[in-house]
Amino acid sequence: MSRMKQNSEKFYNGMSKLKIHHFKSLSSTQDKAKEYTKKGLSNLVVVSEVQTKSRGRLNRKWVSSKGGLWISILVKPKNIEKLQYLTFAAAVSVQKSIRKIAKIDAKIKWPNDVHYKGKKIGGILTEGIFGKENHVIVGIGLNVNQTKFPSEIKNLATSLKIIAKKSFDMKKLEKNIVKDFFNIFNSCYNNGKFDKILALWKDHCDTLDKDVEATTRKGKISGFVSGVDNDCNLLLKLKTGEIMKIAEGDIKVR
Ligand code: BTN
Repeated sequence: MSRMKQNSEKFYNGMSKLKIHHFKSLSSTQDKAKEYTKKGLSNLVVVSEVQTKSRGRLNRKWVSSKGGLWISILVKPKNIEKLQYLTFAAAVSVQKSIRKIAKIDAKIKWPNDVHYKGKKIGGILTEGIFGKENHVIVGIGLNVNQTKFPSEIKNLATSLKIIAKKSFDMKKLEKNIVKDFFNIFNSCYNNGKFDKILALWKDHCDTLDKDVEATTRKGKISGFVSGVDNDCNLLLKLKTGEIMKIAEGDIKVR
């Protein structure tokens, strides 16, 4: 369900012309991007000022009020076996853009959170659409100019404005994030240079070599983060010395 299309613009992303579609309000930019795949379109970006039914990882609700940056990037990658790397690429793009534009030293927490001093500023949701043609939609949420959050996430979330005590130009952030993402997508992902993406991600991640508590579908478990493997799984060293691979879940530094 899309409403009130504002405008669309094109910019060169290094490989081809990229169309950015802007909306005032959508149920979810992910759903709008999915609609575009049905029309055979790809290599485009959907941005909405507000989302009324946005979703986060693990089917969680995602709060998308005005003031945040809500983006979905639709691509047709050469390789769909390594989609986790697109999540990592997006997290790096967001972190780098925040540092460049807002001068805030945000960090990445495995797998996809961008945070500042433990409070979440942004997150990534990567969804694949598989069929005759394979598409991937990389959803990016970034809290930019909001000053308030609903009570249920008030203590967990923050925004660039709350941190820096000033507002930021959303367009500038949007373009920078999209540009950085496509740089990594074209030069690393589509060239099979996954090790390069992992190295970039590790450079900006602050949950490696830390004692954490991981919450997975099977429950909670504590351990030391000894690394991330080539499939982007978290490697947790347990008290017993055993290394546990975690593919999905949340971690909290202890
Ligand atoms: C997470 O950390 O759980 C991921 C959050 C992803 C939210 C973004 S906002 C743009 C896009 N549209 C959605 O409905 N979700 C993603």
